[in-house]
Amino acid sequence: MAGQATALVLGIETSCDETAAAVVERGADGRGRIRADIVLSQIDDHAAFGGVVPEIAARAHVEVLDRVIAEAMAEAGFGYGDLDAVAATAGPGLIGGLIVGLTTGKAVALGAGKPFVAVNHLEGHALSARLSDGLDFPYLLLLVSGGHTQFVAVDGLCRYRRLGTTIDDALGEAFDKTAKMLGLPYPGGPAVEAAAESGDPGRVDLPRPLIDRDTLDFSFSGLKTAVRLKAEEIAPLSDGDIADVCASFQAAVADIVAAKTARAITAFRADYPAGDRPKLVVAGGVAANAVLRAALDRAAANAGADLVAPPARLCTDNGAMIAWAGAERYAYGLVDGLDFAPKARWPLDELGRNGTV
Ligand code: KG4
Ligand code: ZN
Repeated sequence: MAGQATALVLGIETSCDETAAAVVERGADGRGRIRADIVLSQIDDHAAFGGVVPEIAARAHVEVLDRVIAEAMAEAGFGYGDLDAVAATAGPGLIGGLIVGLTTGKAVALGAGKPFVAVNHLEGHALSARLSDGLDFPYLLLLVSGGHTQFVAVDGLCRYRRLGTTIDDALGEAFDKTAKMLGLPYPGGPAVEAAAESGDPGRVDLPRPLIDRDTLDFSFSGLKTAVRLKAEEIAPLSDGDIADVCASFQAAVADIVAAKTARAITAFRADYPAGDRPKLVVAGGVAANAVLRAALDRAAANAGADLVAPPARLCTDNGAMIAWAGAERYAYGLVDGLDFAPKARWPLDELGRNGTV
């Protein structure tokens, strides 16, 4: 029966600056098990440039991907013949990296005589809570990463409705740019979070754009500009000043995201009036932020919902979420041809348009 098959899937992720491969098993009960999960970060290659350089990323993927895949297979203890399918990220992301991972995934599938599954990176993030927590559909997703900030109603496999998005910068981008302005290292998110720990969140008065507007869209570029102006006002910045700016920035972000989340839960509940207590899933690299998680936890509880936050390792880019999305699709007979083209831009809510599930 569709959706009930067991699947052992190799997943490959190369859409940004992580070269990752994982082997995941989906049981007949629909639960997932990670057999191997290798992530090789290119952070050191890009740090000197203060951000990801696409050409450097693509070359680095070429250099290490074969080894990362071999390591994942060895750790899982399976041969290529044991796999049911091979999955690779086909978009959205940096085109050079996508080509490397997609072509390699197709070659492995062809060589092993296995079906190939092209995975949307955002779908990988969207489904990761089903791997970590065995969550049932439907649920509300807040995806917060370096490239995306969106609320998505996850109604079922391939059934994604975007409820709100950022009209300018992604939240991770705002963290990265704030870090850069303050002279903190790349990637900015973890650096801002670490600096904020000793800071005073009430020291610097920052705006909370769109917070009271009746929309589920975000805007972070005004906040970023305000951080720059305040930093210029205080300059030269001591470590204590940097900590205070970071803590104030994080507090503004937490307020904005909490307020929007409360609205999103209300909207989601209206779609499922007879449903159980709604589940709010947070995914993407920024979901690793502890202050944000705490604010989301409070916002969800106040709105009568439960927060489900996969472990940080599954929130940042990884191969397990791609293998898992591949396994979910494969279990429903959704496999792709070897002519599937990479897509630099590929919105999540376009996935269900063919009505395949
Ligand atoms: O999902 P991800 O690993 O890659 C993308 O698909 O974009 O997200 C990376 C983003 C970066 O902008 C990074 O600064 C941010 O996630 N990030 C964080 C934290 N850890 C990573 N932002 C805030 N706090 C963190 N602890
Ligand atoms: Zn991502």
